[in-house]
Amino acid sequence: MVRERRNVPSLLGLVLSVLQVSAQTWCGKNYMFGSPVVPPGGQFPTVATSETPLLAFRCAPAIRPYLAEDAFSSDGVAILIDTPVTFSNIANAAPLRSPSSRSISVTVSVDGKRLTSGIVPLNMTKNELPFSLLSLKPQVQAYTLTCIATTGRQTFHATGSLSYLPNPPPGIGSATKMDLRTGALLARPADGKGGPYAPVFPIGFYTNFGGYLAEDFSISATLKAQGFTVVHPIPTFDNLTALEIVLDKMQEAGLYLMYDMRWTYMNATAVTEEVNRIKSRPNLLLWYTGDEPDGTSDPLDATLKASNLIQSLDGGDGQGGAGYHPVSLVLNCQDYYFSEYTRGSDIVMQDAYPIGINATFSTVWGTICTKDYGDCGCDNCQGSLEDISTRMDEFGERLFVNGWERTKAIWTVPQGFGNSSYWNRYPTGQEFVVQSILGINHGALGVVSWNDPTAPDIKASASRLAMALPQLNPFILNPQATFRQITTSRVDFGVWQVGTDVLVLGTNINYSTVVIRIRDLGLQLSQVSVAQVLDTGASIDPGRENFIFQPVGGGAFVIKTN
Ligand SMILES: *[C@@H]1O[C@H](CO)[C@@H](O)[C@H](O)[C@H]1NC(C)=O
Ligand SMILES: *[C@@H]1O[C@H](CO)[C@@H](O)[C@H](O)[C@H]1NC(C)=O
Ligand SMILES: *[C@@H]1O[C@H](CO)[C@@H](O)[C@H](O)[C@H]1NC(C)=O
Ligand SMILES: *[C@@H]1O[C@H](CO)[C@@H](O)[C@H](O)[C@H]1NC(C)=O
Ligand SMILES: *[C@@H]1O[C@H](CO)[C@@H](O)[C@H](O)[C@H]1NC(C)=O
Ligand SMILES: *[C@@H]1O[C@H](CO)[C@@H](O)[C@H](O)[C@H]1NC(C)=O
Repeated sequence: MVRERRNVPSLLGLVLSVLQVSAQTWCGKNYMFGSPVVPPGGQFPTVATSETPLLAFRCAPAIRPYLAEDAFSSDGVAILIDTPVTFSNIANAAPLRSPSSRSISVTVSVDGKRLTSGIVPLNMTKNELPFSLLSLKPQVQAYTLTCIATTGRQTFHATGSLSYLPNPPPGIGSATKMDLRTGALLARPADGKGGPYAPVFPIGFYTNFGGYLAEDFSISATLKAQGFTVVHPIPTFDNLTALEIVLDKMQEAGLYLMYDMRWTYMNATAVTEEVNRIKSRPNLLLWYTGDEPDGTSDPLDATLKASNLIQSLDGGDGQGGAGYHPVSLVLNCQDYYFSEYTRGSDIVMQDAYPIGINATFSTVWGTICTKDYGDCGCDNCQGSLEDISTRMDEFGERLFVNGWERTKAIWTVPQGFGNSSYWNRYPTGQEFVVQSILGINHGALGVVSWNDPTAPDIKASASRLAMALPQLNPFILNPQATFRQITTSRVDFGVWQVGTDVLVLGTNINYSTVVIRIRDLGLQLSQVSVAQVLDTGASIDPGRENFIFQPVGGGAFVIKTN
């Protein structure tokens, strides 16, 4: 999040902004006092409904990219088939004329040759059809998957993109894969000393460079000791000598790098320089381009152009195929050209910041805020913590409508700042964890907060969550897990099940104590072992019948039933 361009520091700036009043928008809305109401446009289209069932057939590789070294692997070498049956006219949905059929016969081909096939139940997600990489050769150009499904006399078509890259050549320091079964990132250890690919849950902060990282080279070691896994340094990086030292220290500490090009992502010369400078870093986890490009109404094709350029420099084909690291960005608007900006990302983050705002009256600009007008610091928000879960759900729903739910992931940006402009206070440490858990329970596979340095209370609570994640990851990042999200009495739960083990991650959104009967979650704890692995104000009563949540408290519980 950056709002610098809207500061009004000088008389000249003021004169210019008065002259350009119509160009002063956020999320396409006029927000300055006296400016007219002009509908912003860019809304995500309403999805037409259908009277009869539709099949939205989809296919995608389980892992992106595969590498030459995976040739003899079978783990995760599969095509994922999704067969949602829906009454909404989402991407690639076609009428299912024999609704009594329970399954379809699927064939997946590459260049006219059969790669794999199988029978897949209807209304199924991520059904795995195994294949062998030995039938393909590693190359920069992504392969096109041609997927055909037949049931009765009906045929359905879908395409997908499969990247099978050579092993990272000299000059590329690492590869980050995406497990499209979960959306999680897979990487080797960040210290560059080798080790297997493993799921990573990125948790950390957008972190000041000048005046912070660049001044104190011991910060990385401290962050690592606090349990964080990723650092997202905030540009500009004026001193490249200092940048090199900071990145070395991050690697030494075993922290991954999220590399931010917010100021340069529309400048091909600068992007080329930066990607070529950074891509040899073994701890590079992913790239980051637009920082709220929707807020500033950047050109609608800017994020896609940047992503294609980055991938072409990072071992990919530059035409949509994967390179060695995924590309991310953050969107700030609730509903402004979502598809256009998200197209240029593998990971889209949301940064709804609802704490300490007035959602209806702009304390900065002295205007009302509506769907068409004004800026209150959280676009189209209510000013409650639910703004976060709502935003996560909306983004998730749009990915589904676009047929992107298997190929793009969503991360969350908890508010870690306040006492400035729209935000009249900092979140408390507990509220920080509420925001993070709401994100995770609604699908976030990374938590990167704006910004460090932050309040000590927030840092301490964020660290608690980070320290607990190694016990949550075997559930949250597990392709075998099943998942349910439940909200009851304004307590938000995520429930993951792997075999006979269950993870319950819960947070109270109320500012009062709430007691939830465990059996209301469909769980029985009397005969089993329960370990609490996170406590920011939650417990189980001695009789094991209730969860007790303190005001804005959170907790995680691992339940083993044998
Ligand atoms: C398909 O599955 C979804 C999610 O499990 C369910 O909500 C929906 O009712 C199912 N649709 C049909 C037509 O069975
Ligand atoms: C850049 O950073 C290095 C390493 O901290 C420092 O020695 C040097 O003085 C800095 N250069 C400038 C111009 O600040
Ligand atoms: C683009 O980046 C290059 C390299 O950093 C720089 O020299 C140039 O001035 C930039 N162009 C614009 C329009 O900012
Ligand atoms: C928002 O500001 C308006 C106008 O000053 C005020 O009437 C209202 O009470 C404020 N709402 C909140 C939640 O602070
Ligand atoms: C809030 O900001 C004001 C003005 O910048 C500052 O004087 C004050 O110390 C800050 N309060 C807190 C709690 O950070
Ligand atoms: C949760 O908070 C809401 C709004 O503050 C309140 O109306 C509701 O009664 C609370 N629920 C519980 C169970 O305390």
